[in-house]
Amino acid sequence: MKKIGMLTSGGDCQSLNATLRGAAKALYRVFDEVQIYGFEEGYRGLMYKDYRLMKPEDFSGLLTVGGTILGTSRTPFKQIRQPDEYGNDKVELMKQTYKRLGLDALIVLGGNGSQKTANLLSTEGLNVVSVPKTIDNDLWGTDVTFGFHSAINIATNAIDCIHTTAASHGRVFIVEVMGHKAGHLTLYAGIAGGADIILIPEIPYDIESVMRAIAARNKGGKNFTIIAAAEGAVSKEKSALSKKELKERMKTEKKYPSVAYEIADQIEQRLGTEVRVTVPGHTQRGGAPSAYDRVVATRLGAEAAQMVYRGEFGYMAAMQGRDIVKVPLAEVAGRLKTVDPDCDTVRQARAVGISFGDE
Ligand code: F6P
Repeated sequence: MKKIGMLTSGGDCQSLNATLRGAAKALYRVFDEVQIYGFEEGYRGLMYKDYRLMKPEDFSGLLTVGGTILGTSRTPFKQIRQPDEYGNDKVELMKQTYKRLGLDALIVLGGNGSQKTANLLSTEGLNVVSVPKTIDNDLWGTDVTFGFHSAINIATNAIDCIHTTAASHGRVFIVEVMGHKAGHLTLYAGIAGGADIILIPEIPYDIESVMRAIAARNKGGKNFTIIAAAEGAVSKEKSALSKKELKERMKTEKKYPSVAYEIADQIEQRLGTEVRVTVPGHTQRGGAPSAYDRVVATRLGAEAAQMVYRGEFGYMAAMQGRDIVKVPLAEVAGRLKTVDPDCDTVRQARAVGISFGDE
């Protein structure tokens, strides 16, 4: 009898359930006898023995369902070595649960922080296999993370909806897109939604350049402008500051709910007309997974199960080109995949006239 643990960790996304289903279906097929232990709310469940012994039917009907049947939580890696509220070592707690249940392997569905913890558990001797989850697509070692494509569709839809109202009123609109410190989601949704200006963390913007792009549109007879701004977008000026200098600066600066409001304020001051901000926020992580994500999730889940079967531990199943490959967790942990400012996608976006606010 093989005993396999599974958990979903960090911010949720659309195809967590589809990935759990893919992994479970493949596990039930590949092993003659297998028990799957579903840990509740990510690593927290592994720490505090909060789990469910899953049945095959628990994984039925999940392909199209957003969220995660196991629940999730954030367990910041920075605090993983700090004792919990009862003074216990969190890593030891996780190891104890794993050992007491007699698990043969643990499958972790997670983003950046979760992959670091997965790597730590692997170095501590647990048989860990992971799969790359996040709408941000910022995981090193994989071209695509599951959740990314579904989120692109939602952010694109937000921009699409803004288009008609922006045109009717002749306004400047800013749609703020998630993505944490990476601009992949904004870049894709911006291009797909036909944004006129795309602002991403990897290409710091100059507000005067943004103004020039707006003016150029007006001169060309367009009375509205749509800006897709990543939540992590940063001005050239701020990006040149050290962390300490930035902290000091924040103390004295006017506070905004998020970067889109700051940019809107700067544009309003220069333009003298109102600028509107739309923040789709967590809707970008919700709803049913896209068809493409269902495929990616199923493939990654199935491959994670195969890796467990083959005893290939300490790896993340990853997508490179059209193939699913295995990447050592030690290489993935702590490395961010950001947008290369000189990549083809950016170059081609510029070619069709999209401004990145840097020229
Ligand atoms: O990592 C996914 C993500 O949605 C980021 O894009 C965003 O910055 C963050 O999570 C939001 O986190 P929370 O759900 O904790 O507000």
